[in-house]
Amino acid sequence: MASVHVVGSFNVDHVWRVATLPAPGATLTGSYATGPGGKGFNQAMAARRAGAATAFTCALGEDAGGQWARTLCAADGITLHAAASPAPTGTAGIYVDAQGRNCIVIGPGANATLTPGFVAGALADVAADAVVLAQLESPLDAVAQALDAGRAAGAACLLNPAPANVAIDETMLVRADILTPNETEFAALLLRHVGERIDADAVAGLDQPRLHALCRELLPHGSVVVTLGASGCFVSHPDHRPRGDTNACYRIAAEPAQVVDTTGAGDAFNGALAASLALRPGLPFIEHIRFAGHYAGRSTEHAGAALAMPLLPAT
Ligand code: RIB
Repeated sequence: MASVHVVGSFNVDHVWRVATLPAPGATLTGSYATGPGGKGFNQAMAARRAGAATAFTCALGEDAGGQWARTLCAADGITLHAAASPAPTGTAGIYVDAQGRNCIVIGPGANATLTPGFVAGALADVAADAVVLAQLESPLDAVAQALDAGRAAGAACLLNPAPANVAIDETMLVRADILTPNETEFAALLLRHVGERIDADAVAGLDQPRLHALCRELLPHGSVVVTLGASGCFVSHPDHRPRGDTNACYRIAAEPAQVVDTTGAGDAFNGALAASLALRPGLPFIEHIRFAGHYAGRSTEHAGAALAMPLLPAT
């Protein structure tokens, strides 16, 4: 039985590597590659390759992209629950510059057809010691259903509120035990839910008490992990639930990495965090964060998204 259940998107990524990200009106020459992606699938691959028995729930078109997803899940031993969609399998157009930074345009396709009913069926067997992980590239009622199924089973529910342009309301936030925004998503959530306008570029520079206070306002009942790219991450717990940690809030520095491509780095972090929580529930939370940070750093040393997830030796 799966110990990590990921509900989310599968995309066929079309990736162009360019010296600089294109400005409006520009025509550039770059090198092209295609590969599997989608935040949901990337996170499922990370959880699986980090060692957890993993199930992935998504919607796929009845086309080559959908068949590719099925083949990849079988190859990596991921249990796939795929709703067959009349829409084409999801796609993403990605530019990656010489520093490994990216910008992404998504064509949701089949991902937009995932239903709460299908998710409920796929997550009918979630165990109390499992972890449910969802993002925002699927319809929000399906995401809510995933978290509800996890909560009903007593499983830990992680919500990665990505991408930042998808707005969620209070009713979604209360479903998450652990929220994992990057700095852009954190800034968007603060504006919407806390009424604070903070530039995404300024988030990493905020002092610890201020970050902690903002996280507590955003998610009073749960833990918030703000991923900060090269600046590592910031963790904030409610005082009454520090998840085995000594401190209610702290920063963890990023490990040095020979960065080739940051596409999917956040997904690597989330998948590895879910896997570590499921595999080693007795550890203090900080150890899960260290594991996820290390895993995400290694994922940036390879090009691509899902296929850049490091395969760890079985434990
Ligand atoms: O997080 C990276 C992913 O975002 C890419 O794989 C792309 O498909 C988009 O979903």
